[in-house]
Amino acid sequence: MFNDMSSAGQLSHHASGQAGPDAESSSADHTETRDGKRRVALEAASTLSDMAFAERRTALLVLSGLVRSECDVRTLKAAFNELMAAKAIPLLTALRHHCPCTFRHALRTMTFVIIIARRLGIERQEHASICVGALLHDVGKLSIPVSLLRLARKLKPAEMEKIRQHAEIGYEAISDRRVFGWNAVLDIVRHHHERLDGTGYPLGLSGNQISLRTRCVSVADVFSALTENRPYRAAMSAETAFRILSDAAEAGTLDHEVVGALGAALGLAAVPS
Ligand SMILES: [Fe+2]
Repeated sequence: MFNDMSSAGQLSHHASGQAGPDAESSSADHTETRDGKRRVALEAASTLSDMAFAERRTALLVLSGLVRSECDVRTLKAAFNELMAAKAIPLLTALRHHCPCTFRHALRTMTFVIIIARRLGIERQEHASICVGALLHDVGKLSIPVSLLRLARKLKPAEMEKIRQHAEIGYEAISDRRVFGWNAVLDIVRHHHERLDGTGYPLGLSGNQISLRTRCVSVADVFSALTENRPYRAAMSAETAFRILSDAAEAGTLDHEVVGALGAALGLAAVPS
C-alpha cells in the first residue's frame, strides 16, 4: 500500500524531479524522507490491531496518503497522532463509506495543500494541522444525502443551499475535540469555502479575515476537485484546472500567491483562455 502513486503524487514527483544544481542531493533527501516516512507509517500501522477492520483500513489509507505526500517525517507522525487523539478515524471511515469520492478528494486535497505549504514556507509546526484540516474539510458532507452529492445535473438553488451547509455542519461535528492544533483544523473545516472578495460561505469572510492556512486548503480543494471525475463532468487536465485557478485569483476570489505557489511547485502555467 505504501508504494501506491496517485495522480497527485505523480504530479508532485514530476515537479520535484526537475533538473538543477541540487537535483541529486534533493533527490537523495527525498528518498531518505520517503523511507523514514514508510518506517514511521509501518510503526503506526502496527499499533492499529485493536481497531475494527473498516477503521484500520481508513487509517492505513491515510498513512499511505501521508507517505505519498511531500510532508516530512515529523509531520506524518504529528498528523496521524492528531487524528488519533481527536478520534477522527471513525468520522473518516464513515465518510469513506458514505461517499468514497469525497474521501478520495480529501486525500488528494491533503497532497496538494502540503505542496503549497512547503512552497510558501509555512512553518513546519503548522503542517500537521493543515494536513488534518484538509483531510476533514468536507466531513460535514456526511450529513448530505449521497444522492445529492452525486447528482449528474446542475444543482437547483435549494440543493445548492443544502450542500453549502456542510462547512458549518462539519465544524459543529468536530468542535468538541480538545487536542493540540485543533483550532487550526476547525478554522479550515468551517472556512474552506470563504472567498477573499467576501462571496464565499458560511460567513462571507473577506481578505485577512481568512487565514493563510485556509486559503491554502481552498486552493488545494478547488484544484483537486477540478482534476477529478465528477458525475456531471470529466476530470480536467492540470493545465486547464490551473487556468481556472489563475482566473479566480485575477478575479480576487482565491489568493494570488497561493495559486502561484501551487503552479510553481507543479510546473504549471495557465493556458490561454
Ligand atoms: Fe467543501
